[in-house]
Amino acid sequence: MTPIRIETTLSIVKPDGFKKRLIGKIIQKYEESGLTLAAIQRFDLTRAKAEGFYSVHKERPFFPSLIEFMTSGPVVVMAWRGEGAIDKVREINGATDPKKAAPGTIRALWGESIQNNIVHGSDGSGTSKFEVSYFFPDLR
Ligand code: CMP
Repeated sequence: MTPIRIETTLSIVKPDGFKKRLIGKIIQKYEESGLTLAAIQRFDLTRAKAEGFYSVHKERPFFPSLIEFMTSGPVVVMAWRGEGAIDKVREINGATDPKKAAPGTIRALWGESIQNNIVHGSDGSGTSKFEVSYFFPDLR
């Protein structure tokens, strides 16, 4: 039998999701998948905090615009926990580009562009550890 892998992953409702008042609907989708909320907080990201979070993308052409966007309004940052949490959140979020996201996913339903795509989700176990502790350093 494969051992149960309990993971903690990070999700961010981006400024477009906040402005569209989608927080409740997004939480509902994660909860209905069986995941448990481990931490949640609203942030008004500073440029430095946003740049540090997305530092892996700092050489990409979209980086300046992404930082502009992520600091354009409040975000809601959440840690979700459960079996296979990283993949579950990625699946519920859908592909980065809303046009390529599967029907019914958050990005397909509400995303407007590859940048304004409503949510962020950790993409692997290394990134989830960095990302969860970046916002919730005391979470155990
Ligand atoms: P996210 O999953 O938060 O990871 C990086 C973010 O950069 C991505 O979602 C988008 O909001 C943004 N972005 C803008 N352009 C691109 C692109 N061409 N490829 C990937 N991400 C992009």
